Amino acid sequence: MNRAGANQSGEGEIISILLVDDIPETRENIKKLLAFEPDFKVIGSVGTGREGVAMAKELRPNIIIMDINMPDMDGIQATTLITEAVPTAAVIMMSVQNDPDYLRRAMLAGARNFLTKPILPDELYNTIRTVHIRNKPIAAQYTAMQSAVPLETQRKPSAEGVGNRAGHIIVVYSPQGGAGCTTVATNLASGLMKEGIRVLLVDADLQFGDVSVFLNLQSQSTMVDLVGNVEDLDTELFDNIVVTHDSGLKVLMGPARPEYAEVIQSNPNAVAQILEKIAGNYDFIIVDTSRHLDETLLALFDAATKIVLIGMPTLASVKNLRFVLDLFDQLTYPPDKTMMILNRVPTDRNRQKLLISTDRIEKFLKRSIEVEIPEDEITALTAMSKGVLIVAQRDRSRSPVKELIQLAELLHTRLMGNKDHVEEDEADKKGQQRKTGFGLLSRKN
Ligand SMILES: Nc1ncnc2c1ncn2[C@@H]1O[C@H](COP(=O)(O)OP(=O)(O)OP(=O)(O)O)[C@@H](O)[C@H]1O
Ligand SMILES: [Mg+2]
Repeated sequence: MNRAGANQSGEGEIISILLVDDIPETRENIKKLLAFEPDFKVIGSVGTGREGVAMAKELRPNIIIMDINMPDMDGIQATTLITEAVPTAAVIMMSVQNDPDYLRRAMLAGARNFLTKPILPDELYNTIRTVHIRNKPIAAQYTAMQSAVPLETQRKPSAEGVGNRAGHIIVVYSPQGGAGCTTVATNLASGLMKEGIRVLLVDADLQFGDVSVFLNLQSQSTMVDLVGNVEDLDTELFDNIVVTHDSGLKVLMGPARPEYAEVIQSNPNAVAQILEKIAGNYDFIIVDTSRHLDETLLALFDAATKIVLIGMPTLASVKNLRFVLDLFDQLTYPPDKTMMILNRVPTDRNRQKLLISTDRIEKFLKRSIEVEIPEDEITALTAMSKGVLIVAQRDRSRSPVKELIQLAELLHTRLMGNKDHVEEDEADKKGQQRKTGFGLLSRKN
């Protein structure tokens, strides 16, 4: 037995565990094994998937050990519901056979790891501790987000969850490569997640998308699998393609190789149509894009509730932002469809002198900058090398964590906090949709 384990999950820390298995002896055996280790505490033990979901909501365990095969509701369905309702809990799936398709489905549903029966003690202990350590920053982020959002703007989780969500599509765009589009999109998606809010992150940088690198995700299922079925896309097909990040965030991956982008670009409206079709299943859909202005991107702009436009304080970036804002005017987008933010703003005075001040940028663009994200190479690189998001960091008062959270909260309040605003946005969106389907140049007045 691994007696040294108590300290591996944190000094004196107790990991609370819920067991879900339809065979009582299995639950008893696992419980006995866990009793040998002082850092584990079994706080519940139930025999069906449905009870598992109910107990997870009530007890909020750190870890749920879930059998995959159960009558009533199976482990995969229960995991899908738990990752949405109790995102602070991490599910470890158990199965008798090492069936790759089963395991793939379990991981897509949001399970963090799996155990094959019969379960060996050390494997059980190590898996629980590893999953718990990886889950801690994610759980802390949810808890902090939950307390950061004013009560009146928090939505209650909806029992059905499907088809009746707010469906806001937020397209993150920068005309300048390397301005931080993917950084902002991934952190915004994560920052918007809290209990009861469903968020989907979409990598629509079709050729050189980086979302998989930022989130340390691998999947063979991508949006390429959906474009042939846009007309009869259903929730089940979509759910089979979407990947679940460790944090519970749902991700629609972009093409696995640059050459596959052509399949999507052959129908420029495809991505926007897919997102509009499934929008009702999510509260926020965050779309990462490439700088390349093409018809696919324009269709996404049209479909967007908000466009988060990212600039840097350099001449080239400001010149390109001017061009994009002119284009949006020509497309008759209302000014509040766009939200301007500056990224990589230097904190060092000497560097500030060499770049353009926010005041001057605002005057030149005749638009206000809503959030300024400071340049912090170390934080950005550390997050990237670990495959962890910047907003998942423990110290939320530090830049640029603070500003990225501020952006998520601003959008949350603007889109979910005020019903009138939502209705206005919906009206804007519908107005814009009518104008889709023309070429980039032919759309210019
Ligand atoms: N505020 C910041 N401070 C320091 N580094 C940053 C900041 N924001 C982003 N970066 C870094 O800048 C690089 C580019 O960021 P990112 O990939 O998000 O930009 P992008 O606009 O998506 O680029 P691309 O054009 O390649 O898609 C990354 O290495 C990222 O870690
Ligand atoms: Mg990018």
